[in-house]
Amino acid sequence: MFVEQMFDIEGLKKAKNAVILAHNYQILPIQNVADFTGDSLELSMAARDTDSNIIVFCGVDFMAETAAILNPDKKVLIPSKEAICPMAMQINADMVKKAKEKYNAPFVAYVNTHAETKALADVCCTSANVVKVVENLDSERVLLGPDANLAWYAAEKTGKEVIPVPQYGNCCVHQAFKVEDVMVARKEHPDAKIIVHPECRPDVQKLADFVGSTSQMIKFVKNSNDKKIIIGTEIGLVERLRKDRPDKIILSLRESICRAMKKNTIDKLVRILSEESNVVKVDNKIAERAKMAIERMFELC
Ligand code: 13P
Ligand code: SF4
Repeated sequence: MFVEQMFDIEGLKKAKNAVILAHNYQILPIQNVADFTGDSLELSMAARDTDSNIIVFCGVDFMAETAAILNPDKKVLIPSKEAICPMAMQINADMVKKAKEKYNAPFVAYVNTHAETKALADVCCTSANVVKVVENLDSERVLLGPDANLAWYAAEKTGKEVIPVPQYGNCCVHQAFKVEDVMVARKEHPDAKIIVHPECRPDVQKLADFVGSTSQMIKFVKNSNDKKIIIGTEIGLVERLRKDRPDKIILSLRESICRAMKKNTIDKLVRILSEESNVVKVDNKIAERAKMAIERMFELC
């Protein structure tokens, strides 16, 4: 990144009273200029708590939408309107209605959903708090979507019946990690710890030493005495950990890239902040209902 761009961003931030939030999968130059980096849960809390007038959300569509829902009086901008999470498109309001009628159980919307889906949810969750949310719900049977792997993880940790909606929803970035990858990694690096995201396949999760959200993985690396750690999630987190921890050997279980996350660039960030363009808008009624599900998540945790 050019030094001038760095000055542009700092100047624009001050002049406009803006804050930059960046997800752990963003390219490093964006993470470097962000006021706050984190996982979906941490970023939604940062969005909830900010005093700034403008939130530049460097992540994907559903994350920026969540920030807009929590801040109806603020301007939320996203560097690229093409940063669209393909998994969030695997579920819609109609599917939630039908599942609730069929099973008569509360629906937990993974934060990776659009506002219309959250608006029909009893509560939201992220990968960092899904276990607490499901545990604290007053029902032994729970619907959860769109990630079937996360639903399996929640069932495994809570002992409750967690029905995935839809049956086979998944994130292509995490579905790419296979059992064979873990077997090869164990053989080639018997001294390494393997940590993966709960969006990975159940068989991969079962073989890992630790399963957690992106920020929980960062904490694991920080607190562990292991010299070599193999990461099963999007490459942005691997790059970030390599930068933060030059004292450790950080390897990727497989190079898996989220194209949606990489749509945001420094040039786009500078442009949208100076123009105050790419404003994220959510219909008021939908936003009010979706906000209840997000706030219930904060209450339950
Ligand atoms: P985290 O909440 O763990 O950061 O995950 C977000 C996400 O999109 C994972 O694919
Ligand atoms: Fe969506 Fe998967 Fe990308 Fe996360 S990693 S934003 S779930 S496609």
